Amino acid sequence: MEHVINANKITIGYGKDEPVITEVDMAIKPHEFVFITGKSGSGKSTILKSLYGELSPFSGSLNVCGVDIKNISTSNLNLLRRYLGIVFQDYRLINEWSVEKNVMLPLMIGGFSKGVSLKQAHKLLKHVNLLHKADKYPMELSGGEQQRVAMARALAHNPVMILADEPTGNLDEYSSELIWDLLKNARDHLGTTVVVVTHHIPPTLGIDYKHYFLESGVLYEVS
Ligand SMILES: Nc1ncnc2c1ncn2[C@@H]1O[C@H](COP(=O)(O)OP(=O)(O)O)[C@@H](O)[C@H]1O
Ligand SMILES: [Mg+2]
Repeated sequence: MEHVINANKITIGYGKDEPVITEVDMAIKPHEFVFITGKSGSGKSTILKSLYGELSPFSGSLNVCGVDIKNISTSNLNLLRRYLGIVFQDYRLINEWSVEKNVMLPLMIGGFSKGVSLKQAHKLLKHVNLLHKADKYPMELSGGEQQRVAMARALAHNPVMILADEPTGNLDEYSSELIWDLLKNARDHLGTTVVVVTHHIPPTLGIDYKHYFLESGVLYEVS
């Protein structure tokens, strides 16, 4: 696969409203680390939604992990979700399920046995320093801890690409550093492509990255 993301002049919006994103191009290769920045309301989450197949572009072409997002079928959407790890801006943990069961979810969907899924979930929970909370429920955790569970869940099935929407928004320094380290490690050691929407690019990251800036519906490649 030459590009993990290939967007050509995509225009995205909601219903009959004015489009939020107009004629945006994006080309992301495997193993790239990508930041998307822009003011609140500029459409960062909207772009991510189209990348994970929740919003189909009005026009243009969009291919993610070899899947054509326009006119996507349910079976292709399921296939796409297996390739992706997604960290939502509002976490979207399942409150009725324990922390460990939340992290097991993408593995069970991927067809792994319960035993293998549990083992992998525990490994990821250890990486985010939350193994001791495996039996707790999301509501019993702090915001930073829930965010770390969301990150563990997104990485559990070794996705081709991780899409993270402000994964360090409202986090303390400890949780933020842990999340940047996890994303860096996934890229460096597992070859995961990383796309992060953020307000603030950490100055001490120490890696090469691509930076897109979103303003007035236009996506600029900064570096
Ligand atoms: N579900 C929705 N329905 C209609 N408009 C929406 C919806 N979600 C977001 N928008 C609008 O799209 C624009 C961009 O929102 P969003 O992508 O969430 O921005 P950001 O993530 O950069 O803060 C905003 O004007 C917002 O009001
Ligand atoms: Mg957003």
